[in-house]
Amino acid sequence: RTVAVLSGGLSHERDVSLRSGRRLSTALRAVGLTVDEWDTDGSLLTKVSTQKPDAVVIALHGGEGENGSIQTVLEMLGVPFVGADSHACRRAWDKPTAKAELSRAGLLTPDWVVLPHSTFRELGAQAVLDAMVGRLGLPLMLKPDQGGSALGAQVVCDAADLPAAMVNCLAYGETVLAERFISGVEVAVTVVDGADGPAALPAVEIVPESGVYDYTSRYTAGFTNFHTPARLSPKIAGEVAELAVSAHRLLGLRDVSRTDAVVADDGSIYFLEVNVSPGLTETSLLPMASEADGRSLGEIYAELVDRAIA
Ligand code: DAL
Ligand code: MG
Repeated sequence: RTVAVLSGGLSHERDVSLRSGRRLSTALRAVGLTVDEWDTDGSLLTKVSTQKPDAVVIALHGGEGENGSIQTVLEMLGVPFVGADSHACRRAWDKPTAKAELSRAGLLTPDWVVLPHSTFRELGAQAVLDAMVGRLGLPLMLKPDQGGSALGAQVVCDAADLPAAMVNCLAYGETVLAERFISGVEVAVTVVDGADGPAALPAVEIVPESGVYDYTSRYTAGFTNFHTPARLSPKIAGEVAELAVSAHRLLGLRDVSRTDAVVADDGSIYFLEVNVSPGLTETSLLPMASEADGRSLGEIYAELVDRAIA
């Protein structure tokens, strides 16, 4: 089998994706697949149509890699690929859309407000910030409505810090998602499709040294402590797994996803977001979960490649 691994791309997460792509390619070769590593640029269409890989694995993060764009191209070319289809990617990638869908289905997610850039011009920045704090309280969480790796995201405890945090967030996109901050244990749960349907891998508990799981804490070895499986009671661990499988199913995802959630101090579990192309770098969460599950990264993805081709 020949598999093309797509990485790089043009999003803010380009570097992360190159690291994911390298690790995944090594893992797939280790289980006997022939791998082409493609940096995703303008020559992609030509490469896919002339070299005709048996399947494509998308190790792109952010933007085109996760918002359904690449998926649409591959669907139009009729090339099998690992991961959710273009429609499901679009829904999952837009955080407010995913939150609204899951909230309608009865899952908990932190209260939120969506603030397009234009709102600030129309209503005045201070009025918008006051209304947001009135609605969500402090601390609150700001993040781009579409994005990854915590770029542009910030916890704000003091109203005086809001304008700067808002500007930082808007540097990454046109629209801000503001959420009530839920204090608790942060966990990430990978879901993998198998013969018996989607199943959760052991949850990874995330404990950043700085207290904040930002870009640096994510991608610098030693900046975050991980516990896999997460230190949760069997009951909560079961509920966390159930939440991730529900998110995977309700959003119509396929093959693999990773749900990020927080277990609040009172034991309630809040959905934060779901990732259709989870990071696969040396410090990323999915590889830790697969190791704890006793399966190598290569084994998991080789099986997904088989499913994509079948
Ligand atoms: N967006 C990064 C790659 C992740 O979710 O792992
Ligand atoms: Mg994400």
